[in-house]
Amino acid sequence: MERCYIADAVKSPGQRVFLQGFVDNLRDSKYMAFLVLKDITGKVQVTIEKEKLPELCEAVSSLTEDSVISVTGTVVANDYVKLNGAEVIPEEIRVESIADALPIARRAIPATKKKKAVERSGIDQRIDYRWIDLRTEENQLMIQVQTAMVNAMRQYLLAENFVEIHTPKLIGAASESGADVFEVKYFDRNAYLAQSPQFYKQMAMAAGLERIFEVGPVFRAEKSYTNRHTTEFTGFDLEFSYIRSCQDVMDMEARLLAHMLKEVAQQYGERIREAFGTQVIVPTLPFPVIALHDLYEELEKAYGYQVEESEKGDLTTEAEQLSYRWVQEKYGHEFLFVTGFGAEKRAFYHMRDENGVPMGYDLIWRGVEITTGAQREHRYEVLKKQAEEKNLAEDVKFYLEFFRYGCPPHGGFGLGVDRMTMLLLNLTIKDAMFLFRGPNRLNP
Ligand code: 4AD
Ligand code: MG
Repeated sequence: MERCYIADAVKSPGQRVFLQGFVDNLRDSKYMAFLVLKDITGKVQVTIEKEKLPELCEAVSSLTEDSVISVTGTVVANDYVKLNGAEVIPEEIRVESIADALPIARRAIPATKKKKAVERSGIDQRIDYRWIDLRTEENQLMIQVQTAMVNAMRQYLLAENFVEIHTPKLIGAASESGADVFEVKYFDRNAYLAQSPQFYKQMAMAAGLERIFEVGPVFRAEKSYTNRHTTEFTGFDLEFSYIRSCQDVMDMEARLLAHMLKEVAQQYGERIREAFGTQVIVPTLPFPVIALHDLYEELEKAYGYQVEESEKGDLTTEAEQLSYRWVQEKYGHEFLFVTGFGAEKRAFYHMRDENGVPMGYDLIWRGVEITTGAQREHRYEVLKKQAEEKNLAEDVKFYLEFFRYGCPPHGGFGLGVDRMTMLLLNLTIKDAMFLFRGPNRLNP
């Protein structure tokens, strides 16, 4: 018999089915045994009357929580069964894999008369056994939601004539600034892990591909121990040609995210609310925009927030967080574009206006940066000068070549997929990734 998903099986009482999954729960008493079987689609109770089915008793008594089994049986409607109002009466149970006692507690277990309460293991312990941790409904939903997010963005861009590219992650020179880059041995010389696909996205513009995006790994050798930094994350990057200004880039991003959140809300809004207690809000267009300088003024007026004049070329972490409160109060919005960063704080490849201010932005969602974007400098001489000012001309020599043989005006941005997942589901970054990487974390 072909394998049937549990979610489909419970919809068809009377049906004979073949189910496979993990033992989620197990109660074995003298006359009856109750298993809860779980697969990626749901859970179902398997009820065994031991006297009627003595041949199954041995298999059942060997089972442990999280063992993997195959069950052939019949779905029976039963109002007394809380889960789905249905149970499976098995005729055969095959044990595929026995699980040892689990080394982590995925959730807190309240005390009973016989047993002490069990605390939930901390996230670092759970990451040690991430594959076991990922078996929970919440974590599987998190991965499904992330899939829907990336898929919605990909579909949106394909319909807008973007093509998807795959750029090298092993590179000969540090990509953005030289700092924060991982060096790796590359035969008899050194190579680096790409800090962003930035240079290759722009090479694609020089190649006349006009509109490109890439979803891929991004490496950052930052010793940050926050709930939103990781040393390896998934970047959703895009770049497109013949823009009129940075406004076109911001508009593209706002439309892309509104589409993505609409899709996610439709497909998973309800389940996200149940599992994570948080609402998926589809943003209205356009997103609010404010210049950094004005934002500091507003934050001071509204909340008495003050920073040193010298720090005002960049967004402080506190200002980032406060800006969420401000944008909600002022616009009833969760997103805020911040423009007008200081040239000394921004990458050399951002195009600058007549006052030398980079024509770029950060997008803040729920008080956390999810994107940096900009119109790029595509004029070779200007770009070279900006690289020289930051002492990078030697490192980026190969990149400057892209602009010598004709290059359209262009711009783009990079979105952190893990950050977005984390913000959407109200998690920390460690919880919002398949497998976290940090300064102290290279395993499993
Ligand atoms: O702001 P970043 O560093 O910008 C760039 O990489 C540019 N090349 C993008 C561009 O096209 N101008 O990184 C882009 C995004 C951030 O806004 C954030 O969402 C995410 O990547 N990000 C991180 N996510 C997790 N851990 C880290 N250490 C991150 N660093 C950046
Ligand atoms: Mg940034």
